[in-house]
Amino acid sequence: MPKPSAMKRDHFSSGLGAFAATLGSAVGLGNIWKFPYLTGSNGGAAFVLTYLLSVALVGLPVLAAELLIGRRTRLNAVHAYGTVVKGQKTWALIGWAGMISALLIMAFYTDVAGWVFAYVFKAGAAALGGPGLGPDTFSALAGGTWEPLAWQAGVLVLASGIIAFGVSRGIERATKTLMPILLVLLVVCDIRALTLPGAFAGVDFLFRPDFGKISASVLLAALGLSFFKLSLGMGTMTTYGSYLPDTARIAPTAARVALADTLVSLLAGLAIFPAVFAFGGQPAGGPGLLFNTIPLIFSKMAGGPVFTTLFFILAAVATIGAMVSLLEVPVAWLVEKGKMRRPVAACLTGGAMYALGILATLSQGRVLGDVKVLGKNFFDLFDFASSNVLLPLGGIAIALVAGWLLARKDFEAELGKGYGKRPWHTAVLSAFLRFVTPVLVLAILLNGFGVLRL
Ligand code: TRP
Repeated sequence: MPKPSAMKRDHFSSGLGAFAATLGSAVGLGNIWKFPYLTGSNGGAAFVLTYLLSVALVGLPVLAAELLIGRRTRLNAVHAYGTVVKGQKTWALIGWAGMISALLIMAFYTDVAGWVFAYVFKAGAAALGGPGLGPDTFSALAGGTWEPLAWQAGVLVLASGIIAFGVSRGIERATKTLMPILLVLLVVCDIRALTLPGAFAGVDFLFRPDFGKISASVLLAALGLSFFKLSLGMGTMTTYGSYLPDTARIAPTAARVALADTLVSLLAGLAIFPAVFAFGGQPAGGPGLLFNTIPLIFSKMAGGPVFTTLFFILAAVATIGAMVSLLEVPVAWLVEKGKMRRPVAACLTGGAMYALGILATLSQGRVLGDVKVLGKNFFDLFDFASSNVLLPLGGIAIALVAGWLLARKDFEAELGKGYGKRPWHTAVLSAFLRFVTPVLVLAILLNGFGVLRL
């Protein structure tokens, strides 16, 4: 029986490949759907500003720590945290909590991904002369019963199938070529939206902060988004770090990923908000914001429906990359530890995600719309419990493991790979992981839950 560590493991072929793959997990619905939607419902620029600070002070150090621990151990998340501190197996809990997060996130993520796939076909039909896309299109879809459930099932079968047959490499390659096209299309949206009459109010909303809007819940939402956005706090990035070649420099890779990912979010915001204001819509439009705004922007262009279709196709591809990275965490563990065959592990994981996913999807419509747990419907509850509770808690634990418990020589050796001598940022990252990051996360959590009033 081979020990997990003795198994042959894949790795990314180059530093650039590692950057692209890591970015592939980070970029997803978080940028084009969640960032605009949360910015809109949390008051705009003040939220954006706290989000940017959270990426810099919390997200970046935790990302570096995850990549570092992953590469040091070269193991799946549970085993990585269970072995990284000599004699302290309990840290495997980070990996366990990560599995729960993966299930909760996938439950609502696949609902949204289902909307994206549905929009590919709806926009395609509109391009071929069918009915156009309006606000009713979205409310009918998301608020329905069988239609969103069917799309969600389709999305899960697709993602689990990719994982089962281990063809995620192909998907990664596809994502890498299609992502730049999505970026170009976002810039086209930006230009179109920014040149609409009245667009400037949207830029104002996005970038001129009203500091009075920063509240405990805004801070918590911004913190949660920075974890969700960079796929942190549950072992995804640890797993990716375990594939990182020894030539890759950890801190610059993390910094580039955080920067590029944030740019994509801002580009999405710069398309959505100017258009929302120009068309007299509601910035706090909730989860439907993306789906209602993009078709409107393109409707002001020649070939609009075709571009709308293309946009949702590219978005769909981006969601596959993110979903695969979420499925991989439990599947890798079931395969390496449970000695399960990949297809079995993928079916089991996908099935569990669908069971929770049904609750999330139906809570958007009539069937479970009135069921509230802790004042939230299932969709919001799963999102809140993962992004705003489990991932930040995971982040604190990861920062403490990397900052305090990991042997100094291991910490320094990993950070120094790719450099001739110890890089200057070793001490800075260490100080962040020991003090700044965990204290900030804890303060925002306690403040957000009313335990502490800052
Ligand atoms: N970061 C992805 C997005 O923005 C979602 C995602 C993928 C994720 N893997 C994750 C979120 C792991 C949290 C943890 O769409």
